[in-house]
Amino acid sequence: MSASANAQNGKAIFQQKCAGCHALSAVGSTATIGPNLDDAFAQARADGFAESAIANIVHDQIRFPGQYPTAQNNPNYLKANMPANLVRGQDADDVAAFVAANAGVSGFAVSKAISGTNGKSIFKSQCASCHTLKDAGTTGTVGPNLDQLKPPFPVVQNQVIHGGSVMPAFKGKLSDAQIRAVARYVSSVAGK
Ligand code: HEC
Ligand code: HEC
Repeated sequence: MSASANAQNGKAIFQQKCAGCHALSAVGSTATIGPNLDDAFAQARADGFAESAIANIVHDQIRFPGQYPTAQNNPNYLKANMPANLVRGQDADDVAAFVAANAGVSGFAVSKAISGTNGKSIFKSQCASCHTLKDAGTTGTVGPNLDQLKPPFPVVQNQVIHGGSVMPAFKGKLSDAQIRAVARYVSSVAGK
C-alpha cells in the first residue's frame, strides 16, 4: 500500500467499479449484490482497528474475492461473485484507502425510509450507483446511460415499478407519488 492515497480518485473508482454491487453511505450507493460495506466494517472500526488495517483487508479482497455458487432467484445464494482485480496498482490502493476512510464511520447502516417527492433527490439516492445522468451528476455504469437512452415518462415509470432482470423493482419501496416524481425528473432532464 502506498502512503499517498488519492481520496478523490478512490471515490471516483468506487463509484465506477464498486457502487453497482455495494452499499456505502459515503457515496450514497444502495446496491445489495455484495455486502453493505458500512455494516462490514462498523465492528472493526468500533473495535479500534487502524484505518491502514482496514485498507489492507479491502485490498486483499480486491485481489482474492471469494467465488461461490450463484443463483438469481434463491435468497440463500449470491446473485453474482465479485470479480478479482477489478482495479490494480495505485487505483487499488486509492479505492481501498477510500473505503477504509469511510466505511462504517457512522456505525452500522440504518435503513432510512426515503422521504419527499423531489425527483432529483430520489434519483441521487436510489438510482445513482447504476445509471449515468448528467443533470444529477451521476456516473453509474451497471444500467444504461440515461442521457443516451432519453426514456419517455411511461418507460421510466414502468421500469421503476417493475424493475428488470438486474434492476430492482421499486414498487413498495417508493410511493406511487415518488415513482411519478423520479420518472418525471428523468424524462425531463435526460440528454440535456
Ligand atoms: C459484481 C458485484 C461486485 C463488484 C463490482 C464489487 N464487489 Fe465487492 N463483493 C461482492 C460480493 C458478492 C462479495 C461477498 C463475497 C466475497 O466476500 O467475496 C463482496 C465482498 C467485498 C468485501 C468484503 C466485505 C466483507 O463483508 O468482508 C469488500 C471489502 C469488497 N467487496 C469491496 C469491493 C470494492 C472496493 C469493489 C470495487 C473495486 C468491489 N467490492 C466490487 C460483489 C462485488
Ligand atoms: C442495481 C442497479 C440499478 C439501480 C439501482 C437502478 N437501475 Fe435502472 N437499470 C439497471 C439495469 C441493469 C437496466 C437494464 C435492464 C435490466 O434491468 O436488465 C436498467 C434500466 C433502466 C431504464 C431503461 C428501461 C428501458 O425500457 O430501456 C430506466 C429508464 C431506468 N433503469 C431507470 C432507473 C431509475 C429511475 C432508477 C431509480 C429509481 C433505477 N433505474 C435504479 C440497473 C439499475
